[in-house]
Amino acid sequence: MKVMIFTSSPNTDGLTAACGNAAKTGAAEADAQVVMMNLNQQQISSCHACDNGWGPCRNEHECQVQDDFQAIHASMADMDAFVLITPVYWAEMSESAKAFFDRVRRCEALKKGKTYIEEKPVIAVAAAGGSGNGLTTCLTSMERFITHVKAEKFDLIGITQKSRVYKLDTIQEAAREMVALLNRKGE
Ligand SMILES: Cc1cc2nc3c(=O)[nH]c(=O)nc-3n(C[C@H](O)[C@H](O)[C@H](O)COP(=O)(O)O)c2cc1C
Repeated sequence: MKVMIFTSSPNTDGLTAACGNAAKTGAAEADAQVVMMNLNQQQISSCHACDNGWGPCRNEHECQVQDDFQAIHASMADMDAFVLITPVYWAEMSESAKAFFDRVRRCEALKKGKTYIEEKPVIAVAAAGGSGNGLTTCLTSMERFITHVKAEKFDLIGITQKSRVYKLDTIQEAAREMVALLNRKGE
């Protein structure tokens, strides 16, 4: 099984990174091949809302804004499951997560037949600061993305600096169980 773990924070040793490592450990414990993708280390522009609002994303399911998006998007076809991890910024996903997932949604949501993400399990993680304000709003927008691309909501997990210790264990176990279930289905 192949799992892609997206992180989207500029901090490589912050809470988002810790969540990514926990998910990686859990998925690897269930023998998954893990691909880590830090969206902040990629050149990914926001959607240009081409023409009157739709570009070739609508019918050709490709984005015409040429940057690192194309290669990462294409690699999603080969994955069996995903973990999406964002820091909570202004009660929303980080800018790098929003830019990438907005474009994935446009390319995938209206595809007929098998898409790169449809029916594949997804764990969404929102990593907030001490207040935790806006954590649920952020998770709601991640849930909406998962719904729009017709993926399977495996779990939606909120974590703050205060809940860090036990929620990192939760993320690890969730990733392990997600892969273990896929393994059992494949038997
Ligand atoms: C621009 C910005 C906006 C933020 N907005 C929120 C917020 O709305 N709610 C919250 O609980 N924390 C907020 N935070 C705090 C981060 O979510 C928190 O520090 C998180 O752990 C950052 O992840 P990192 O450790 O991977 O950088 C914000 C931080 C930044 C930089």
